Amino acid sequence: MNFDKIFENNKGWIAQKLENNPAYFDDLSAGQAPEVLYIGCSDSRVTAEEMMGAKPGEVFVHRNIANMIPNSDLNVQSVINYAVQHLKVNHIVVCGHYECGGIRSAMAQSDLGILNPWLRNIRDVYRLHKDELNGIEDANERYKKFTEINVYEQCINAMKTAEVQKAYAERGLKVHGWIFDIHNGNIVDLKIDIDERMKDIQSIYKLV
Ligand code: CO
Repeated sequence: MNFDKIFENNKGWIAQKLENNPAYFDDLSAGQAPEVLYIGCSDSRVTAEEMMGAKPGEVFVHRNIANMIPNSDLNVQSVINYAVQHLKVNHIVVCGHYECGGIRSAMAQSDLGILNPWLRNIRDVYRLHKDELNGIEDANERYKKFTEINVYEQCINAMKTAEVQKAYAERGLKVHGWIFDIHNGNIVDLKIDIDERMKDIQSIYKLV
């Protein structure tokens, strides 16, 4: 990657934005009111806004390895808190993707040092669903199913938080589980039934 080119691209981008709307950056600097919190994978090929056709200001984004919401990760927990309680987003999207290196690594046996505790969160998801997953003979199908189940479990982790439960009760906040199919570009909605899930989760994790 040519770094001089990046700054050239930036100038071109500014010119293009100003051509369409001379007040573009005045509007942008006035503040943000996104409706969606997107939690996705850091993978360089899964670009949140581009694949959704979203513009700056529309989506609050958090990305980490394998789109995780660990219960004790202050980073993602702070992002959820800020987005839900302060920005008042009405939708949380957890988006996984096929060919995810984090998911692949969690399914492999190897000591990856500092990555171990992060990957352990993913392995914990496998353990919860091991009967179903081990029952899938085709390794690729098993891996795809694990990718989907991981998104589902991270949606559940989001629903365990007080701010999500409160926003669900007060303004009908929705939690969506998606998979980006990197083989063809499609976003697949896993159609998580938030009413049913929330009822089930709150039988144990109800906070508000
Ligand atoms: Co990934």
